[in-house]
Amino acid sequence: MPANPTPEPEPEPLEGSAGQRSGGTPAEAVTPLIRGITVLRELTDANGTLSLSALERATGLARSTVDRITATLARMGYVRVDGRDVFLAPRLMELGNAYLAALRLPSLLSPYADALADELDESVSLAVADQDGIRFIHQATRRRAMSLSFRIGDLLPAERTAPGPLFATEWTPADWQRWRERRAADPRDLSFTAVPPRTHGLDATHGTNPTHGSNPAHGSNPAHGEDFDFVRRTEEASAHGWALDDQLIEPGLVAISVPVRGEDRKVACVASVVSHTSRHTAHGLREALLPRLRSAVARMEEELHRTPPPEPGPRPADLALWTGASKLQLGRDFIESLARGLTVLTAFGEGRPRLTLTEVAQATGLARATARRALITYEHLGLMTTADRTFALTPRVLSLGFPPLSRTTLPEIAQPHLAALTSRIHESTALAVLVEAGEEIQYTARVATGRVMSVNIAVGTRLPAQATASGRVLLADAGTTVHTQGYALVDEELEEGLRSLAVPIRDREGRVVAALSTATHASRHSPHECVTALLPELTTTATHIESDLHTASRFTRVPLT
Ligand code: PHB
Repeated sequence: MPANPTPEPEPEPLEGSAGQRSGGTPAEAVTPLIRGITVLRELTDANGTLSLSALERATGLARSTVDRITATLARMGYVRVDGRDVFLAPRLMELGNAYLAALRLPSLLSPYADALADELDESVSLAVADQDGIRFIHQATRRRAMSLSFRIGDLLPAERTAPGPLFATEWTPADWQRWRERRAADPRDLSFTAVPPRTHGLDATHGTNPTHGSNPAHGSNPAHGEDFDFVRRTEEASAHGWALDDQLIEPGLVAISVPVRGEDRKVACVASVVSHTSRHTAHGLREALLPRLRSAVARMEEELHRTPPPEPGPRPADLALWTGASKLQLGRDFIESLARGLTVLTAFGEGRPRLTLTEVAQATGLARATARRALITYEHLGLMTTADRTFALTPRVLSLGFPPLSRTTLPEIAQPHLAALTSRIHESTALAVLVEAGEEIQYTARVATGRVMSVNIAVGTRLPAQATASGRVLLADAGTTVHTQGYALVDEELEEGLRSLAVPIRDREGRVVAALSTATHASRHSPHECVTALLPELTTTATHIESDLHTASRFTRVPLT
């Protein structure tokens, strides 16, 4: 069904909506959209996967509802259902990407954060305020075993971080009130799944902060002392222009933060250097690293102030048409109002940070009434804010899958695609990368067939690059020796009776980063058959893997192995 073209008179702005349902839900909010968002959030909090029955328990929804929601999300490529388990899928990152692209800060500032991490050999992060929490929008992480490291999209309670007091310098009385209410409702931070729960008074043996020890001066409720401490830290942050985290999250973890201000002089985001007490005390961090953090932040601010707003990026494809077609195909199992509602988030992006209702409707192809109800729903869920008749995504959009998906590797991205390919062509399939300066290839993912005579190569196996089809497509891109027509066919070179066919997998810049291959016994397919029957299947699968890779790597680094 194309969008309903009838222009209906409607109350604007959105506050004009009629009544409220129970629990403060606006009467016009779209229930299936609220439920779909709940499913995505539960999967995110569970680190990316739950069984269908666990999802039923976590959401309180009926099994039939969970089934229809997951079928709809699977159709959109946002989850994958494998037997009884549901997995978040890389495509879902397009929602968080829409927020990060609209925000602009990651693309402008992350090169400076990465350079600082290299210079200091410490982790550097960028965070934005999310109500009374902080949410990471970039991480330049040094791999060290000692501390937990946070992911893009992780939400932390402001008072247990270094960026928190810097954001709190701009809080209104209403913001402080909301924070106090949250502290009272969740004294152990159980709603913040990325941090260890508070252990009041139970582990008072380390650090100088009061979070980990109850101070008798603060009476019987240790939370009072901690909350007073946050007020004091905010005053200090306001006076100094920096703030410390002295093991507020976990023993050993220390951080120092400085605000990055926009042209309006408001805090646009906060840059932090994160270390461990085995290398720096919190105060040592300030002495050793604050000057270099400050000069990096000065360069970030220059970049922000001098770069003009980008031209609007491409609009999404006509998603309303797509959802209509899906409804025709899947019938009752496809919840069109959920799919349509989710497409509203993808209307935002680079050069499109704020949109009017009309612009959202145009960008998505949805009827104004449909777009409007989705916007009301998102505002209610805290995923959208509205001002002057325009709408903008909030950092909370990152809570829709981004943290677990931001850690996905290329072999993990490829695995379900290999499985689908193998089941279509009945041959084993594999992914490989170049190692040893191009001398060898290494298999990083593989799906075997049930055939007795299947070619058996375990993940991790290395082979000489020149002798394999995968090696040849990888070397062709490196500009050496070999020329391919977009694929390589190796006939009984490596081993008698073995025939293999490979195609390249390219990253966002067009570089070949991996090879997708299938290996078959020569008796099963002639060389001609390999090219006519198997090559199109391989090429299609490579396109799907690339599409996921390009979505996943827009704002995060996707490891190739
Ligand atoms: C981090 O980037 O991991 C980080 C930043 C600030 C903190 C704690 C952790 O206070």
